[in-house]
This record gives sequence, C-alpha cells and structure tokens, in this order.
Amino acid sequence: MAAEVPWVDSLEQVYGDGTPNGIPSEYRQRFGNLVKTFEREYDQKPDFVSRSPGRVNLIGEHIDYSLYNVLPTAVVNDVLIAVQVVESGEPKFSIANVNSSKYPKEEAIIPKSGEVTIDKQNHKWSNYFLAGVSGSLQTLRKKHGDNFVPKGMKLLIDGNVPAGGGLSSSAAFVCASALAVMAANGLRVTKQDLLDECIVSERSVGVYSGGMDQAASIFSERGYLLYCQFWPKFAAEHVPVPQADPEFTILVAQSFVTSDKAVTAPKHYNLRVVEVTLASVVLAKLFDIALNPDHSSLGFSLRNFQEEVMKKDGKLEETMKYQVDAVIDIVKSRLDKDAYTREEIAKILEISVENLEKEYMSKFPVQADSFKLRQRALHVFEEARRVLAFRQTLSQSSTLDKEKLLRLGDLMNQTQESCAKTYECSCPEIDDMCSIARKSGAYGSRLTGAGWGGCTVHLVPQDKVDAVQEALKKEYYYKKFPKITAETLKEAIVISKPGQGSSVIHGNALSV
Ligand code: GLA
Repeated sequence: MAAEVPWVDSLEQVYGDGTPNGIPSEYRQRFGNLVKTFEREYDQKPDFVSRSPGRVNLIGEHIDYSLYNVLPTAVVNDVLIAVQVVESGEPKFSIANVNSSKYPKEEAIIPKSGEVTIDKQNHKWSNYFLAGVSGSLQTLRKKHGDNFVPKGMKLLIDGNVPAGGGLSSSAAFVCASALAVMAANGLRVTKQDLLDECIVSERSVGVYSGGMDQAASIFSERGYLLYCQFWPKFAAEHVPVPQADPEFTILVAQSFVTSDKAVTAPKHYNLRVVEVTLASVVLAKLFDIALNPDHSSLGFSLRNFQEEVMKKDGKLEETMKYQVDAVIDIVKSRLDKDAYTREEIAKILEISVENLEKEYMSKFPVQADSFKLRQRALHVFEEARRVLAFRQTLSQSSTLDKEKLLRLGDLMNQTQESCAKTYECSCPEIDDMCSIARKSGAYGSRLTGAGWGGCTVHLVPQDKVDAVQEALKKEYYYKKFPKITAETLKEAIVISKPGQGSSVIHGNALSV
C-alpha cells in the first residue's frame, strides 16, 4: 500500500537522531513559542501542526523538469503550521505568522465552488498557503464531490527555511499548507498524492517547477539522500549517507543574493522550461519522431526524446549511460546554432510563429527573443550523466575512500561549471563562493536549487571544515556585507544533515 504522510506524537520522531539523547532544546523552545503565540492570537490551543522541510540538492540541477533523476535530501529547517479547525460557519482562513511585522495577518474566504484565486501579479506571502489550498481542494472535491466545502481554519505559521535562499522555502510552505488542509478535513493523505497535488499547487503561483523540491520535502527520511526518478513515473529510493574515510561534511552556505523564482520566472526558471521543451520537439522533428505527450510541464521532455530515439534505433536495452552518451552526440551534431529565433524554430517545426507561441509560450509568459536549445539540452543530458556517475560512486562500496570522495567533488564542480556557462543559472557571487571554498579545501562546490542567487553546497573533508568556513567569511561575507551581524553569519553557513520529510504532529505532542 502507498505510504501515508505520518502523524507523529512526539517531536523526537521528527527531529531526534534515533539515540536516547533527545532533541536540542531550541526545537522545544520553538514549538513552545508557536503554541504560546497561537494561544495569544486565537485564545485556543492548536489541534495539530503540519510541517514540511526545505531541501538541499546534491546533484542533478535543472533536470527534474526534463524528467531525469536527481539526488536531493530534506534539510532540518522547515515550515510549521499550527492549526485549529473551525467546525462551523463559513470556510474562512485566518493566516498569521510568528514574524508578524514581516508577514502581517491575512484572511481568506474559500470559494464554495470553483478554484481558489491567486493573484500572481501581487506576490503576497500568503499566496503560497493559497497555492497549497488550491491543490488540496481539488483532491478533496475529487473525493467528496464538487460541492464539498472545506472547514475553516485558524493558522499560525513559523518557517525557518530562508525565503529566496535556495533551500526551497516555497515547496516547504506549499507542502505544509496542502497537508494542513487535508488533515483539517480528516484526510490521511499518501505521500504520492501529496506530491502530485503540491507540484500542481506550486505551478498555480506561476513557477513551473519539476517536482524535486516537493519530493524531497515530502519523501525524505532522516539520514538518507533521496534518489528521485521522474520517468516513466515518480519513484523515490532512500540512499544511506555513506561512511567515508576521511570523513566528510556537507556544508550549505547562503549567498544572500535573493532570487525569488516566482518574480523572475519569465526570464529565468520558466524560460528554461520553455527552452528544454523546445529542444525536445525540435530534436524530435529533426529525427522524424512523433513524441507522445508526457507529464512534464509543457508535455514534451528531453527524457521522452531519448526514449523515442532509443526505441527507433532498437537500443532501449542499452545502459542509461550508453543512451545518454548517444543523445549528447545527437545534440552536438544536430543543433548547430548558438541561439534560435522564434521564426527559426517555427520553420523547423513547420508551424507558424503564432502557433509556436500558442503551444509553448501561452501557459505562462516568457521574455526572450531567442532560445539556446543546444546549450540547454547539453546541460540536461550531461547533468543526467553526472547524476548516474555520482549514484554509482555512492553505491560502489559501503565506505568511500578519498579517491571516491574526490570523484564526487569533481562531479559537483562540473555541475557548477555547466550551470554557470551552459545553463546560465549561476551568478558571480555563487561562482566566487565556490572557488573560495575549493581553494580552501572543499572537494566539490556548486549552487544548489534554481540558482541565480540562493545557496551553495560543498563537499568538504572534515579536517577542512573550519578552513572553508573561515575563508568564506573572510573572502565573501565580510567583503560583500561589511555590516553583517554575528547572528546572520551564524545562519549563513550550516552543516547540513539530512532531515525528516513531511509529517503532522498531534496536538498532544505540543505541550512541551
Ligand atoms: C527549483 C525547482 C526544482 C528544480 C530546481 C533546479 O528548485 O523548484 O523543481 O528544477 O529549481 O534543479
């Protein structure tokens, strides 16, 4: 049977390390504060808390929406939503935040029929909550009929995943929100259903993301990496973090260059979604292949193209590495222009520019005159190959030696190079941080998440952790932000331990 999102009755089940040591006192303080603030705000105790974490991606960047495998894991930072269900009256949501000066309280009425409206032009913090509501409402109405009216809810939110910081605060917020609505309406949801719902939900905010963030937020298990497969359908494998000699640490460092995916989507994220989709249909046309629509954002993915070429050539039985190598050769030989205009693409596809725009650029707006099909496709296929190599290195032995760690680091460095030059989703600050970390001993350093700012991830031998941290402080943070406070600096670099995926915490576990 498909696994359900767990309901737990102790904080140890979420944050403990499995030993009798309990959990750090800050966690209890945070929950204590959440409950106290809830009582102050609503004069009642919450019934439960729904929570979902942010994620860090180790390798496999910008390839989930081309339906290739990726290797993220949840971080311990998460979004908590304390909920009190309102049994009667109109379905109204009161949405407050523990940080009320930054995120003022809002109210929303849920329509008795039809969809939840989200004003994409007006990027309010509560949009992400409404996005979660819109997805869960669809599921609830599928189950209980179109006239189903959800219960009202009093909500208090406490998130400690830095917003716009590259650790997917948005997926954490959307997943926790959808889960809260389902729980308030008595539905025990499976992880798969929550994932499907949250991918659609996040798209309602205007970002056509691939599903990696939501998958990592929902499916992760403490102590494991999450190997996500998207083709032919989603599947998750829990890969234990390997032992290593010398020991290593995963370090996550913020660039403090904020990149809000929803705001910049037409020039950045969504534009890449259009480019890789156009690359798939152009390649298919050049090869005289008719692609069947798949479940990627715009219906045609590079993974789909790979499958069809291999089918045509009778090579489907070959290894993934063989197949990916073959499509890389195809891109190199068949896509020879640096950039393709709308007219050029329409000509290859034998359709009008108007139809091209209608088919591939009308679901969401993009701002571009030309499209770098060759570069984007190359990044995707080569990154897919790196993920295979990374996964294979991890599974070669139970303890990684230095040579294998260097190999993993090298793959991460290659990803960064490709993100910077071929996919153009890095930025000077991230490039800078990666070279500082490498110079001071990191085996591998790269951006993590969508990029254009956000966060970096580093594979660092244990005995170099201090040196890398010091170098980042001296050569990046103090230089770029001379007034940075000790507190901000403390949050800037964290040692990342794979955290636990989504859960609902029973009210009785909240009297901490
Ligand atoms: C964002 C998206 C993900 C993924 C990454 C890039 O985080 O939400 O689906 O595409 O960017 O790897």
